[in-house]
Amino acid sequence: MKRRTLLISTVVAGALLGTTAIAQDLPQLEQKERYKVGFAQMESNNPWRIAETKSFHDTAEACGWDLIATDAAGSAAKQVADVDSMIAQGIDVLFLPPREEKPLIPAVMKARAAGIPTFLVDRSVDPAVAKPGEHFVAFLGSDFIDQGNRAAQWLMENFDGDKGVIVQLEGTTGSSPANDRKKGFDDAIAADDRFEIVASQTGDFARDLGRQVMETLLQAHPNVNVVYAHNDEMAIGAIQALELAGRKPGEDVTIVSIDGTRDALQAIIDGKMGVTVESSPFFGPLACEIMKKYAAGETIPEWVKVEDRIFTKDNAADHIDEAY
Ligand code: AHR
Repeated sequence: MKRRTLLISTVVAGALLGTTAIAQDLPQLEQKERYKVGFAQMESNNPWRIAETKSFHDTAEACGWDLIATDAAGSAAKQVADVDSMIAQGIDVLFLPPREEKPLIPAVMKARAAGIPTFLVDRSVDPAVAKPGEHFVAFLGSDFIDQGNRAAQWLMENFDGDKGVIVQLEGTTGSSPANDRKKGFDDAIAADDRFEIVASQTGDFARDLGRQVMETLLQAHPNVNVVYAHNDEMAIGAIQALELAGRKPGEDVTIVSIDGTRDALQAIIDGKMGVTVESSPFFGPLACEIMKKYAAGETIPEWVKVEDRIFTKDNAADHIDEAY
């Protein structure tokens, strides 16, 4: 069992270093018919978040969950308080998508101290401070660096101009997808000297802010011909801003994004968006499967990686009916 392995390796490492070994055994989860489960959502202002919360609700009955689901309304402080309240209500297990990497660390540590097994879903926390296998059981989610990398690869393969002038719309500052999607894209695109990122600014993963930021950046950089958005909501906002300014997304501006929402797939079908790299919000069934394995004493990898597809004009119409 992983919990035992961890305890043993910590003891061995401690002995080798001549330090006092501290047992870092993770909280146990007993096997039973029903579980009191906490799902502390960060916000519900976009289709992705709504689909993720629905996925937990849809999974609850079949998985034997008495689900307590909260909505922090975009506030990391409220998300921490929501976890506090769940701990006080005696949850057996916590599923947490941390809005930002650092402010949610106290929530992870408090759940750990209260003996509640915690699984981070879709986003992670600062790994220098809170670690899987030690402070929480595992991270269930996508490889955000790879998503940014694949968005850049698609752009490099499909852009047919001489010079790509890129505006990047970043996700929530301090969140793991914003940090990693930027790194994955920036590192890959740096290898192709046709491209220059002239501006990179947060739109907080929100459509309206994405539109406003794009409006402002268009004034400063009227020659922009590529938009890389860290999610589809901001990409749709950018398309609105570009069209209002008389530009033609899909013709004179290439739009590259991440998620796979219904509106994004429609924009691809309509020829306004080039690509969206999938980032699935349907975590309920995976959360159920991993929780049951953990309760059965199976080894859980520190990162349960979700494999993502890519949506372009070649397959968007095939997938729009299953989109959210
Ligand atoms: O953490 C995943 C990101 O969060 C999604 O890409 C975005 O749409 C959501 O708000």
